[in-house]
Amino acid sequence: MSFKDKYAYYKSFFEDNLAKILDCYCLEDNVLNEAIKYSIFDAGKRVRPVLMYSVCEALGGNIEDLIEHSIALEMIHTYSLIHDDLPCMDNDDYRRGKLSTHKKYGEDIGVLTGDALLNLAFEVVLNKTNFSSKDALSLSLLSKLAGSKGMIKGQILDLQSEKSINFNEKLLLDIYHNKTAKLITAPILISSVCCKKKYFNELSEFGYNLGILFQFVDDVMDVESDFSKMGKTPNKDREVDKLTSIKIYGLEETKKKCIEYHKKCIEILKKIPNNEFLIDFTNYMLTRKS
Ligand code: IPE
Ligand code: IPE
Ligand code: MG
Ligand code: MG
Ligand code: MG
Repeated sequence: MSFKDKYAYYKSFFEDNLAKILDCYCLEDNVLNEAIKYSIFDAGKRVRPVLMYSVCEALGGNIEDLIEHSIALEMIHTYSLIHDDLPCMDNDDYRRGKLSTHKKYGEDIGVLTGDALLNLAFEVVLNKTNFSSKDALSLSLLSKLAGSKGMIKGQILDLQSEKSINFNEKLLLDIYHNKTAKLITAPILISSVCCKKKYFNELSEFGYNLGILFQFVDDVMDVESDFSKMGKTPNKDREVDKLTSIKIYGLEETKKKCIEYHKKCIEILKKIPNNEFLIDFTNYMLTRKS
C-alpha cells in the first residue's frame, strides 16, 4: 500500500471510531456537545493518531487495542488548540479552516469545551473494556506529557517569552520540547507501552526530534504558507513577537535545522523494524505545507 493510502486508511479508522465514541459520550443535544463536535470532527491532519497506529504496527501490535488511547490523545490535542486560540493566549479567529471554537460559541463555552475534552479523554480510556495495567501506564504517560511538566508548561513559557528580550536557543528548545514535542512523543510511547515497551528509549528520542521538526515547520509555514493551505491566519508569530525558531535562527537557517532534525529522525528510525511508513511519515513532516 502506498504511503498516501496507508495514511488515509489510518485516518479513516480514527474518524470512524471517533464518531462511534462521541455517539455514546455526547448524546445529549446541548451547546457543549455541539461545540465538542464542531471542534473535533472533520478537522486536522490527525498526525498523532496516525503516528500511534503506525508505530504500533511497526512493533507488531494491534491498532484495535489503541482506539481509545488515540481518541483521548486527539481530544487533548484539540483542547490544547481551543485554549491556544483564546484571546488571552494567541488570539486566533480561525482554526482548521473555520472559526475557532471561542469565535463560534463565545469564550466561556470555548474554555469549557476544552475542559470537557480533557476530562472526556480520561473517561474514554478508563471505560475501555479489559482495562489493563498497560492502559494505566499509558494514561499516566499521557497525563505527564500533556500536563504541568509537559504541554501546559510549554504553553506558559511560550506566553511568557512573547515580546521578551531575554531569549536564547536553549529557551526555545525548552519551550518546543514541552509545548509540542511531548504531545508528539505521547502517541509513539503509548504504542511502545502497548507492545511490551519495545524500543522505548529509541522511540522517545525519535519523538523529541520529530516534535522539534514539527514545530519548526509550523513556524516556517506561519511565514510562508497561507490561510487556504493551513486553515489558520498566517504571519501571526511576528505580529505578536513570539519566540520562534525564525526569531532565533532566521528563515533560511531554520529550514536547514529542519533538514538536520529530519536526518536525526531517520537515523533513529533505522534502529526500528518495519520502518517504511515511519520514514515516509518523517519525510511528510519535513515537506508538509499545512
Ligand atoms: C498544531 O498542531 C499545533 C502545533 C503543535 C503546531 P497540528 O498541526 O497537528 O494541528 P491539526 O490537528 O492538524 O489541526
Ligand atoms: C501550539 O503552538 C502548541 C500547542 C500546544 C497548542 P502554536 O501556537 O504555534 O500552534 P498554532 O500555530 O496556533 O497551531
Ligand atoms: Mg501558541
Ligand atoms: Mg497558536
Ligand atoms: Mg504556530
